[in-house]
Amino acid sequence: MTRSFPLPRACPFAPPAEYERMREEAPLVRAAAPGGNVWLVTRHAEAQQVLCDPRISTDPTTPGHPLARSSEHPLSEEERRERERLRAGQFIDMDPPEHDVYRRMLIPEFSVRRVREMRPGIQEVVDGLIDDMLKQGSPADLVEAFGLAVPSLVICRLLGVPYADRDFFQSRTRRMIGTNVEESEDGMLAAAEMWDYLDGLVAEAEREPADNLVGRLVATRRKAGALSHDALVGMTFLLLVAGHETTGNMIPLGVHTLLRAPGQLAALRAAPDGWPDAVEELLRYHSIVDWVAFDRVATEDMEIGGQVVRAGEGMFVLGASANRDPRVFDRPDELDLRRGARNHVAFGYGVHQCLGQNLARAELEIAYRTLFERLPGLRVVGDDEELSFKYDNLVFGLHALPVAW
Ligand code: HEM
Repeated sequence: MTRSFPLPRACPFAPPAEYERMREEAPLVRAAAPGGNVWLVTRHAEAQQVLCDPRISTDPTTPGHPLARSSEHPLSEEERRERERLRAGQFIDMDPPEHDVYRRMLIPEFSVRRVREMRPGIQEVVDGLIDDMLKQGSPADLVEAFGLAVPSLVICRLLGVPYADRDFFQSRTRRMIGTNVEESEDGMLAAAEMWDYLDGLVAEAEREPADNLVGRLVATRRKAGALSHDALVGMTFLLLVAGHETTGNMIPLGVHTLLRAPGQLAALRAAPDGWPDAVEELLRYHSIVDWVAFDRVATEDMEIGGQVVRAGEGMFVLGASANRDPRVFDRPDELDLRRGARNHVAFGYGVHQCLGQNLARAELEIAYRTLFERLPGLRVVGDDEELSFKYDNLVFGLHALPVAW
């Protein structure tokens, strides 16, 4: 029997129950996805293998890709140009060598050193939001007041969004997420408005480059003719989309999980140098991206985990299954904040491994630590059964998290 895919989560703290059965059955399992049959990659070793095999493509225009963008009618010249314009700089959907050209330009912006320099700014953002929560008073929705606002304001600083535009920026990012953008008219409209806004931001930097990510790329790459205007707009859009919903979901979800583990939370409060390990474990445990970013297709016949995969066959790596593989993680279903395992695939693996991972780690660590330091009485209002988890969204999280302190 061919399983249908995607499979729903039934419990907020575990991947779909079927993942465990599939993982024990085989490293690659056939399933029927909306776009046709695919291979699901269930185990950690094969997940890493697939994610770094140069014969496997992530480009949605490669024949057989599980999210292949096929059009019902041949594209007009204008439609083709518009599609190219929107694709420019979106290197998450490109294969090497094209992918590497763009990624390399951004690597220095997300290095360990650069992120260390960003930490005081992230701390300021986090403290400012907690000040606002204290002013407004208890209770609050932690998703709205804190979780989504942290990455939004951090990306504003990174890209050099002027202070006066922050409300516009935040309201558009908020409308873009929470739904699956491609299925929501309002989400699509907000994304188009955001694209236009970033287009203007890049144009302004082209006139007068400031000392921020966009300004530096203009000064070094645009001026040297190594980067087009549209590609730079596309890169900023990608950073926004890739970094916002992910971090914005992880913050409230992590807070909720930490509050459910009071013994481990108390240990962290007593020894705050444990926060980096705790962040890694929360990322592994929740695997909020699961398969969404891991859409791939074989470009030639090959064998993976003893299974023959033919050229043109699509696949999804199940990150949430790989991260619970008992071959790699002891007691994988247990939350162990001192586990210290960094070989999870919550940030992917191989050439597309999350470019913003150092930044994401810093944001999560500062957000969790500061929140529990400054609001020692923080608690969830109501029971877990009343909470609204994002079972229907591509990236897992909470729609809202009512808290008091
Ligand atoms: C908890 C937070 C985050 C999670 C769980 C996450 C997860 C991921 C994953 C799984 C991928 C791999 C996609 C693939 O294999 O195709 C990825 C790629 C990427 N992420 Fe993140 N991410 C997070 C935060 C961020 C942040 C804060 C930024 C930047 C502001 C960012 C920027 C990117 C970019 C640009 C890529 C594409 C890299 C490439 O294709 O070379 N991410 N992320």
